[in-house]
Amino acid sequence: MDTPSVSEVAALLGDWPARGSGSLAARLAFSLRSRILADLLPPGTALPPERLLADALAVSRSTLVSALDLLRSEGLVTSRQGSATRVTAPPAADTVGAPLTMAARLLGAAGRAINFGISAPPAAAHLPALAVTSADLLAAVPSHGYDPVGLFVLRAALAERHTASGLPTRPEEIQVTHGAQHAIDLALATLCPAGDAVAVEDPTYPGVLDVLSARRLRAVPIAGDARGPTPAGLEDAARNHGARLAFLLPAVHNPTGRVLDPGRRQALARALDRLEMTAVEDNTLADLAYDEARPPSLAALCRKALVVTVETTSKVAWGGLRVGWLRAPSPVIERSVRQRTSGDLGCSVPAQLLARQLLDHYDGLIAARRTALQASATRFGALLAEAIPGCTFDPPAGGLSLWVRLPDGADAAAFASRALRHGVSVAPGLFASPTGGHDHLRLCHDRPDEEITEGLARLAAAWSETTPTVVFA
Ligand SMILES: Cc1ncc(COP(=O)(O)O)c(C=O)c1O
Repeated sequence: MDTPSVSEVAALLGDWPARGSGSLAARLAFSLRSRILADLLPPGTALPPERLLADALAVSRSTLVSALDLLRSEGLVTSRQGSATRVTAPPAADTVGAPLTMAARLLGAAGRAINFGISAPPAAAHLPALAVTSADLLAAVPSHGYDPVGLFVLRAALAERHTASGLPTRPEEIQVTHGAQHAIDLALATLCPAGDAVAVEDPTYPGVLDVLSARRLRAVPIAGDARGPTPAGLEDAARNHGARLAFLLPAVHNPTGRVLDPGRRQALARALDRLEMTAVEDNTLADLAYDEARPPSLAALCRKALVVTVETTSKVAWGGLRVGWLRAPSPVIERSVRQRTSGDLGCSVPAQLLARQLLDHYDGLIAARRTALQASATRFGALLAEAIPGCTFDPPAGGLSLWVRLPDGADAAAFASRALRHGVSVAPGLFASPTGGHDHLRLCHDRPDEEITEGLARLAAAWSETTPTVVFA
């Protein structure tokens, strides 16, 4: 679909939210954006001339121009004088036709802006001194160094940590990965054939939605309540929507910062057993509940269901280390190792040795991170309430982010592009929600004090330019 006709684009937009909250231009931008992100208007598509498209959509030309301006500011479309507006092609370095993932948007969006969009420690400043010499390499691996399952010394130390936290684990049940994102991808590629339905929380970790679309898997939202996903929601996803696997964040949730209560965690484990449903539990943030001990793993609670656990050093230590792991029964690890080697022959040995050294300091790092994160969440939340009066969020019990509802159903994607013009990158809710999250933002509070202060002053300025919502009858 290189140059769709006016009627094709109008048909694609269908009954776009011509009614509802937010300005008409913001709603039109929202609808166009969702079609672009779903690849229904792929990169390179030339949009019809503005006058014709505005007529077909029954909006004024200035409304269409404002909507396109919003998309231009997000880098989703470009236009040159005298030629058509086009959906942005991926940069030349990308694989031809590769969709622009949410992760790529979050990593690339900020430029020199203050980045509240990406949920990660801001720098490696809090790490202890670590070093690996060539003698260490030789001592650890007296051979070629390719190892798709990971260094034994690291796997043994990780297995010991799991065992000490109540989940007996052997080194053969661990595979070292390039962080948790890679571990999620490997787990889903190993366990789900293309076309399968995967149950996910709503909201969920944005990166899993990228994996689902890259692996051609279908996201089925799990119904939940204020405590989190419900066993009935899990059952509905399994029985009525064909989901055989659930991706869950049962320890500390990204983006809400919720820690599942023990009763609900236990009930979900029982439901998984009853349904014989496989779970991938993302325990990336499990050590970062502010006031409570690390919650028990679903893998320790389930009796029948297969549970694969994803972990990483990225949030206690630093994302740049790129060391995470999968914990699963050894036959699953063996399958995952075979899955991996078509595109990746293993992790860097120096990085794994650094991760092994880090584990000697891990408990101290965890304690310091919990205190720092609790302080940044409190500070961020207080300033946010002043910057965007009327916004709401549940105070997080752990983790690095807040899940914030904008007042009056404001269009979060439009606000995110305005915020970027003010020099702050934020993640609109649609990145984390399989059903849209159109009035939510995910904001990462794990930032130095001065960045929080300045970033929230900029967000306040962006919010003050938000047009009051018009609700159409
Ligand atoms: C819940 C969750 N899972 C996975 C990841 C990816 O982590 P990594 O940097 O180790 O790939 C993140 C990072 O934000 C996360 O918050």
